[in-house]
Amino acid sequence: MALADFLASLDALAQQARDAFATANSADALEAARIEFLGAKSGHLRQVQKGLGSVEKSDKPAAGKRFNEIKGLMEQAFETAQERLAGRVRESASEPFDVTLPGQTVRVGHLHPITQTIREMKDIMGRLGFTAVEGPEIEDDWHNFEALNIPLSHPARDPLDNFYLATAEKGCQDEKPLLLRSQTSTVQIRVMEKTAPPVRIISLGRVYRPDTADATHYPMFHQIEGLLIDRGVTMADLKSVLRLFCQSYFGGDDQVHVRFRPSFFPFTEPSVEVDMNWQGGWMEMGGAGMVDPNVLRAVGYDPEEVTGFAFGLGVERICMRQHGITDIRALYQNDVRFLSQF
Ligand code: DAH
Repeated sequence: MALADFLASLDALAQQARDAFATANSADALEAARIEFLGAKSGHLRQVQKGLGSVEKSDKPAAGKRFNEIKGLMEQAFETAQERLAGRVRESASEPFDVTLPGQTVRVGHLHPITQTIREMKDIMGRLGFTAVEGPEIEDDWHNFEALNIPLSHPARDPLDNFYLATAEKGCQDEKPLLLRSQTSTVQIRVMEKTAPPVRIISLGRVYRPDTADATHYPMFHQIEGLLIDRGVTMADLKSVLRLFCQSYFGGDDQVHVRFRPSFFPFTEPSVEVDMNWQGGWMEMGGAGMVDPNVLRAVGYDPEEVTGFAFGLGVERICMRQHGITDIRALYQNDVRFLSQF
């Protein structure tokens, strides 16, 4: 390339860049112009620089010198524009503020519906005198099964129904591996092992079962577990507490009904399924019953001295019923359009 052509293209570019920088009226526009002209990879200046290679060898020093000068000028024009825009910001800050302008809405996040439900449940049960406690999500055989009167041969231990953990480490007996807890009843044992009666606790948390996700199942869900141990506790106490709980949660004294259906759980005797009716239609809430003497003995309590009741209810079900949610998966898809409704 002839030196004259190279210099002409440099001059033209400098002029264009100066115009672009001088007319940019926002920081974004200025940045766009900077990238267009001074961008390190494919800015115009970089393109022109490539032409330097094809200038006659004897002309190179002159071409290079001019190139550097033009580059400096363009950078200077950019900085000037930057200062001009910064000055404008300062200027506008001192302009009178129009308090009648509509405000800018800030979108504030909020708690997940399940978290809201859990907090509300803790609150209600707290007023009934129950303390909230927590237990680990990774459990051992003793707390998830054995102490809960679930013998080795029981189908509830089936590997198809539990998330057993691969415990390859030495010293860990293979027949009693750890698992992701399948129920919050584990916490009953943990509490009773450490506390002398009376006991009055609830525990809320995640449980895991290898179910295929559909509208009503999810491999992870939450339970609220309750346990009351004292002298002379009866089924009537259980039903009163559950009715008060449901009525407080759904907020209609006469419109919430609780019913028991006979059932079986290894850790309670007798055992019941708990159903609730609110705005028509019965809904299964979970299981309950009087704590089995075997369980009391497993934690060192004397079943002749104390009795107690326990219950375990599905948190998702209750939350879904309250809000009219029909698919449990919606709770865990993290779709803001769904979540922002609660
Ligand atoms: N653990 C049972 C389950 O996951 C629910 C349950 C039933 C909990 C009876 C209890 C109970 O505390 O007494 O299905």
